[in-house]
Amino acid sequence: MPTPHNTAQPGDIAPLVLMPGDPRRAARIADEFLEDAVQVSEVRGIGAYTGSYRGTPMSVMASGMGIPSISIYATELFRFYGVRRICRVGTCGGISDRVAVRDVIIANAAHTNSNVARLFVPDVTLSLAPSFDMLRAAVDAARTMDRPVHVGPVFSSDFFYLDRADVVAGLEKVGTLGVEMEAAALYACAAIDGAEALAVLTVSDHLKNGGGDMSAEERETNFQASLRVAAAALLA
Ligand code: HPA
Repeated sequence: MPTPHNTAQPGDIAPLVLMPGDPRRAARIADEFLEDAVQVSEVRGIGAYTGSYRGTPMSVMASGMGIPSISIYATELFRFYGVRRICRVGTCGGISDRVAVRDVIIANAAHTNSNVARLFVPDVTLSLAPSFDMLRAAVDAARTMDRPVHVGPVFSSDFFYLDRADVVAGLEKVGTLGVEMEAAALYACAAIDGAEALAVLTVSDHLKNGGGDMSAEERETNFQASLRVAAAALLA
């Protein structure tokens, strides 16, 4: 059923969806990573494309930025388009000294300062976690790569320019690897719709250590690596 945010028809979107934040990245994934991809929706600059990966139908659709944005797209895909698995492929800022710019983080939990974990069950804060099958497949795929891969909790912030060193220090103390803005909502949406999700994140900057910008070529190589990990998770 088309929705206010998605004009695809039922069946136009595959049960497995890659979800970058950036709509232009989604278009590139459709062109360069999927086979025979066609555009099936375009609303508010958020394109959805469906093709295949290694013979299995797969779609790609951007989430936009932040918890409300990804919640809309993910919920509609799960609820109205029969999507079973979404893998976010995005970037995060490093928090832990154990991670460096260019590393990949597979989020096995998502902390958040948003209310998204408290909306669904009265008086309960849900634990926001990924699909175990997707997590296991992603970790297996990542361990065959020649780059550092970390598995641990991330922080999904509701406010990009938070500027609170005490928050970052507290999160680091409890083992948080990085900060981004969507994983917690994606995990909550999967939980409430009985679906599966995972976030695979490339560290694009570091809150404490800097670490230098990635060259365009490095960004591309890193992104290709995280895409292969994400696709392996979807195929699990
Ligand atoms: N904060 C929030 N989201 C991000 C960051 C950050 O520093 N880097 C990449 N995504």
